[in-house]
Amino acid sequence: MKERISSKRKRTKRIIILSFIPAILVVLVVSAFCIGLTTRHYDIRTDKLSKGQSVRIVVIADLHSNYYGEEQQDLIAMIKEQKPDIIALVGDIIDDNRAEDGAIDFFEGIQNLAPTYYVLGNHEVWIGETNRIKEMVASYGIKVLTNESDYITINDIELCISGIDDPVTISSFKESCSEALITDSKLLSGFFNLDKDVYNILLAHRPERFESYQNYEFDLVLCGHTHGGQVRIPGILNGVVAPNQGYFPKYAGGRYEENMQTMIVSRGLGVYELVPRVFNPPEVVVIDIVRED
Ligand SMILES: [Fe+2]
Repeated sequence: MKERISSKRKRTKRIIILSFIPAILVVLVVSAFCIGLTTRHYDIRTDKLSKGQSVRIVVIADLHSNYYGEEQQDLIAMIKEQKPDIIALVGDIIDDNRAEDGAIDFFEGIQNLAPTYYVLGNHEVWIGETNRIKEMVASYGIKVLTNESDYITINDIELCISGIDDPVTISSFKESCSEALITDSKLLSGFFNLDKDVYNILLAHRPERFESYQNYEFDLVLCGHTHGGQVRIPGILNGVVAPNQGYFPKYAGGRYEENMQTMIVSRGLGVYELVPRVFNPPEVVVIDIVRED
């Protein structure tokens, strides 16, 4: 009798567990393919700031002229909500295979929100009109950084913000199967004498050149380009494939620290119909630079 009750209990337990499996699968699939906007937050600590001081940077990467809400309202609202001190646009905001409207609506929407900086991404170079693009971006009050630095004081903190062009050139893209990229030493040659007492930030589209960036006094490097490696399994696999890094990219997205330098790689906002983002929602990166305790 006792045995019959116990096997009945076991069967009921099994039925309950089995009935949960479809629900779990639905939740997994929905969260895997969720392409709703998200924010990802990082705290960066430094002794270059005084106690109580902080700077908030919102990083936008790889929009590729995608829309988030009518006239980019959803994306702009999310940025506004973060109350940024600085907005950093780290390339591929415009796409060479899409109309520019999405990017233009975005540039219009962020006008006057905060001092904004921009560097070119490879897709913008591939359009073949970098001067026109830089002029257009600048017309929205955005500071375009072409292998140069800009000093700005935010919340009584002096910051040096540098930026480099993407290393691809339109001629190498058109004429060669394998792109002949501009060398890092050429792009970065102007940054040998950065003031070590100032907090130094570099905007660079590509993260795979992290080793080169470490030859300079940048405290923080902000990148995009990878789309988070497209497919992720949180806690197990940080990206399957990324441009210029291939399969299982080292710098697919997140925080990397080497030689006193921190690199934050945004997983960006790019969505292509044919290549899904899995466990990899489009993200607005929010960075708080604060005093090291
Ligand atoms: Fe890119």
